[in-house]
Amino acid sequence: MKSIFDKQLRLAQSAARQAGKIILEWQGNIAFLEKADNNLVTEADFAAQEAIIKIIQDHFPEHSIMAEEQDLSVNSRAANLWIIDPLDGTNNFVHTIPHFSISIAYARSGRVVAGAVFDPVRNEMFTASQGKGAFLNGTPIGISEAGSLQEAIIATGFYYDRGTMMRKTLNSIEKLFEANIHGIRRFGSAALDLCWVACGRFDAYFEYKLSTWDFAAGMLILEEAGGHCTDQKGSPLNLNSTGIAVSNGKFHNELLNIVGWSEEGL
Ligand code: IPD
Ligand code: CA
Ligand code: CA
Repeated sequence: MKSIFDKQLRLAQSAARQAGKIILEWQGNIAFLEKADNNLVTEADFAAQEAIIKIIQDHFPEHSIMAEEQDLSVNSRAANLWIIDPLDGTNNFVHTIPHFSISIAYARSGRVVAGAVFDPVRNEMFTASQGKGAFLNGTPIGISEAGSLQEAIIATGFYYDRGTMMRKTLNSIEKLFEANIHGIRRFGSAALDLCWVACGRFDAYFEYKLSTWDFAAGMLILEEAGGHCTDQKGSPLNLNSTGIAVSNGKFHNELLNIVGWSEEGL
C-alpha cells in the first residue's frame, strides 16, 4: 500500500543496507573504545553512521539528524527528524556474535512515521510506515498468538549499569519464571528485539533503560504489526521514554504487573 512517506522509507532502507554492507566488511576487526563502562564503540559504528548520514543529507539536506555517535543535542520534536542507531548490538559485534542491526527512523514533530531495521547477517529488512502495516522483506508481518504469560517467550536487555537497574531486571526475570513463562531471551539488539515481537518470534520484551535511537524505528514497526508499546510504567511509549515494555497486547497488564517499575517505588 502506498504511503506519503514512501520516499523516506525507501531512503531508510537503502541507507540501512549500505550501512549493513560496511559493518559486515568490518567484521573480525574488533578494536573498540569504551565510551563508558561496558558501553563499546567500534570503527564500524562510525563508518556506518557516516554513510547513513551522507545518504540522508544528499536527499534531505534541511532535515535534522539524531545519530548515536555524534552530537545528541537535537530536539526530538523537530519538524523532520532522522533517528539513527548505526550499529545496534555493538557488544555482540565486538565479541563476534552474529546478531546486530541498523535502525533508522524518520519522525515528524515527535511522531515516528517511517522506520527500517536491518539485520545484515540474516538479510532481514523490517519496515513500516504510519498506518500502512509492518513488513519483513516486503511480506506483511504480525504479532504472535500467545494469549497469556504462561505461553510467552520474553526478551529483555540490561543497561550498562551493574547496580539498581541490573538487580531490578534480574528480579523481574525471576518473577517471570515463577509465573511459568516458556522462556527468557537476551539477544543484545534492542531494535531487533522489538522487530522480533512484531513478527511473532518473541511475545514480549522489556528493558529499563534505552535511548531514543534504540527503539524509534522498532516501536513503529511493532505498533504497525499490531503490538502494544508502553514505557516501564505503562504510559504510552514516545521518543522521550527511557524504559519500555512491549508485547503482542494479549497479556500486557499481566506483564506490567510483573515487570512494571516506577523508580520512586524503590
Ligand atoms: C544496545 C543494545 C542492547 C541493549 C542496550 C543498548 P548498542 O545498543 O540495543 O540490546 O540492551 O541497552 O544500548 O549500544 O549496541 O547500540
Ligand atoms: Ca543501540
Ligand atoms: Ca549503537
